[in-house]
Amino acid sequence: MATVTPLAIHPHARHSLKKLGLQGPLKKHFSRVPFNIDLSKNINPHSPYLPDYPIIDPIEIKQLYLDYVGNSQLKPDNVLFTVGAADGLDLILRGFAQPPSDVICITDPTYFAYEHWATLYDLQIEKVPLKGENYDVLDIEEIQRINPKMFILCNPNNPTGTQIHLETIEKICQTISGLVVIDEAYIEFSNQESVANILHKYENLIILRTLSKGWGMAGARCGVILGDDRIINTLLYVQTPFSFSIPTQEWVQKCLENPAPLKESWNLIKKERDQLYNKLCSISCVEKAFPSQTNFIMVILKDYEKTFTRLLNNGIYVASCRSAVPKAVRISVSTNDHHHALLEALNQC
Ligand SMILES: Cc1ncc(COP(=O)(O)O)c(C=O)c1O
Repeated sequence: MATVTPLAIHPHARHSLKKLGLQGPLKKHFSRVPFNIDLSKNINPHSPYLPDYPIIDPIEIKQLYLDYVGNSQLKPDNVLFTVGAADGLDLILRGFAQPPSDVICITDPTYFAYEHWATLYDLQIEKVPLKGENYDVLDIEEIQRINPKMFILCNPNNPTGTQIHLETIEKICQTISGLVVIDEAYIEFSNQESVANILHKYENLIILRTLSKGWGMAGARCGVILGDDRIINTLLYVQTPFSFSIPTQEWVQKCLENPAPLKESWNLIKKERDQLYNKLCSISCVEKAFPSQTNFIMVILKDYEKTFTRLLNNGIYVASCRSAVPKAVRISVSTNDHHHALLEALNQC
């Protein structure tokens, strides 16, 4: 068999990865040897269901996603599909963060999963409080002082809904030696620029995306990692082969080939979010509603217990985020009917 040149991995990869070879199916793919009959897969050729494994490197779908991203400097080698952004985060931590010494820096508040997984993997966690009345100011000096192995920023942020500007993120990429992971799960709902536009300039920048939110495909389980090709190569050693299943590939391809209706829905959601925000600002049980670049709004309640219970009694469940921000809930932007029911219940408080 033709030898496979090992894929160049990123200098920040965990030590153990440097000892590994590629797993079988990837070795076959990257060796590029020609063959007509593949007797290596141990599958059942008589099955009427889905007997074959999925395409391991779906270049056509990667290109479709890149067409959407719109940075012409990025190539399919800069893209990895994952089982949702949750899996993407797990791969990044397992690929690059060396327990127990590596420090993962996150903001406070932010998406709970970063601390959850970093704790599970016995990593050190440093939290940098977000400043400003809308939690939208980043303490760059503090991040530089910590100089973490990895800084993870949710942008726009869950649960606050607010967003840090591109120039601030560029400064961090330029001044810390570690990786800068930007979780853009909600970028489709933002009016601000994505870091995808500067990705080609920084080999320490990683973007985590999902098709669960704006693309409306939470049930398909598909996430995307964008980064330097050595970042993607590194993650190929970590990822379970064939995790991008045939049904998911089909749904994702179909969706990316016809993005116009979904793009229209993002505009609708943004408009309805802004209307809902204005209404929430004038409700008496609401202490503060936060301006949002996402499809949810964080709200601080004057009397958390009373209002949360009132909503539940009206059959309305909102996400509690009081462990991150005192007296706060996170409300998804939904349909007019749902907003009407929510506002009516809140007005009774
Ligand atoms: C900020 C953020 N990142 C990642 C995820 C995970 O998304 P997925 O459904 O792609 O696993 C979520 C889900 O709520 C999220 O809010």
